[in-house]
Amino acid sequence: MSEFRRACEKVKQFMLGDNELKTIRDRLLENMRRGLDREGVKDAKVKMLPSFVTHLPDGRECGTFIALDLGGTNFRVLLIDINEEQIDMDSQIYRVPQECMTGTGEALFDHIAKCMSDFINRMGFADRNIACGFTFSFPCEQNAINSASLITWTKGFSASGVAGKDVVALLTEAVARRGDITVEIVAVVNDTVGTLMSCAFEDHACQIGLIAGTGSNACYMEKQSNITKLDGLQDADGKMCINMEWGAFGDDGALDEWTTEYDRILDANSVHPTKQRFEKMMAGMYLGEIVRLILLDMCKEGIVFTDDALPILETPESFGTHMVSQIVDNQPRHFAAVQNILACADIGAIRRDCEIVHMVCDAVSRRASYMCAAGISAIAIKIHQNRPDEYLDITCGVDGSVYKKHPTFAKLLKVKTNELVGLGIYVNFRLSHDGSGKGAALVSAVSTR
Ligand code: GLC
Repeated sequence: MSEFRRACEKVKQFMLGDNELKTIRDRLLENMRRGLDREGVKDAKVKMLPSFVTHLPDGRECGTFIALDLGGTNFRVLLIDINEEQIDMDSQIYRVPQECMTGTGEALFDHIAKCMSDFINRMGFADRNIACGFTFSFPCEQNAINSASLITWTKGFSASGVAGKDVVALLTEAVARRGDITVEIVAVVNDTVGTLMSCAFEDHACQIGLIAGTGSNACYMEKQSNITKLDGLQDADGKMCINMEWGAFGDDGALDEWTTEYDRILDANSVHPTKQRFEKMMAGMYLGEIVRLILLDMCKEGIVFTDDALPILETPESFGTHMVSQIVDNQPRHFAAVQNILACADIGAIRRDCEIVHMVCDAVSRRASYMCAAGISAIAIKIHQNRPDEYLDITCGVDGSVYKKHPTFAKLLKVKTNELVGLGIYVNFRLSHDGSGKGAALVSAVSTR
């Protein structure tokens, strides 16, 4: 068998047909029901976390706020001015050093407070008492809009002493330790919720928020009467935004049929093994790694490259998700461009190697967008079930590096979602620039109104 044919054989397992995607969609729907249910929630992997955001912005919000955005590769501090249906902002990106992500919680929150202080000083707000919205993109149990205890870290974070604690209190303490700024954290939101809020500010049909970035997750507006696990909801006709934490879908084996040997190796080597199985199939933090593991296996079997490439392919993180994007951005027949990208990573490739690498990158990215489409179609169907007789035309607000930078992800996501939703539903996607940060300010505006 030719090398190309042997490569195709390996890549086949990443190709999901519509029937398989519909099975995944329906399993997620079942998980969503369980996560909202008083009884079912006990062993639910998809946590369906209430956000205590009950209203979308209506355009009347106003004020000046600081927003913090922690959860991806960078930490951002923003100054946001909301005024008459317009949002002005300035912001600064700060790096979160590896030792803060995986060290002590105190060091992490001290670092955040230091960046806040630096930014507030630069903006000339040091002597003002300013309200702050905190986008904290990890699973949190909330019982109010301004309190959130971390359930567990995800992605690359593992700072000690934070799980089980209220992150608003931890940040407030860190700010108090410095004593050089006066901020009050009035709202804490997940990045998906922030994205939904900022998109809904511009588009009233927006009911879903999606992050396709370092991590992957979604939220949507659910009828309060369906959230039976929550006591004391006032408004039977009202809604509440649910942060699904869909990344954990599959942690009970629900995705095992579609889990490849590469997914299993990736999981075993990750910061949180056995956790976030759905996310590990589609988020930016992992796509490059999956490609690396496939190419490593193929290289060992003599299908691609020569043994000279082995040391590089054996190095974790040597194949970044940005490389996957760059490679997919080229036609396989334009092999010289792929060859250059590989050369930058010190991998020598002939034309056949480039074609194989292109095929691998395409298959891994395609699976990611189709899995995501299965997820969004489950949400759309869930929303439609509340009003089955009406045509549902909704918008999904999206933020995240994979959605913004990958050349085919967004298009495949849109097409496949609408193939999977069935008749009577149409889902439009709308990029929400800096949505997660802006959204925290909008929630703050609503909650201080
Ligand atoms: C991870 C987090 C989730 C977040 C997502 C995107 O899945 O657990 O809270 O929304 O990443 O950043």
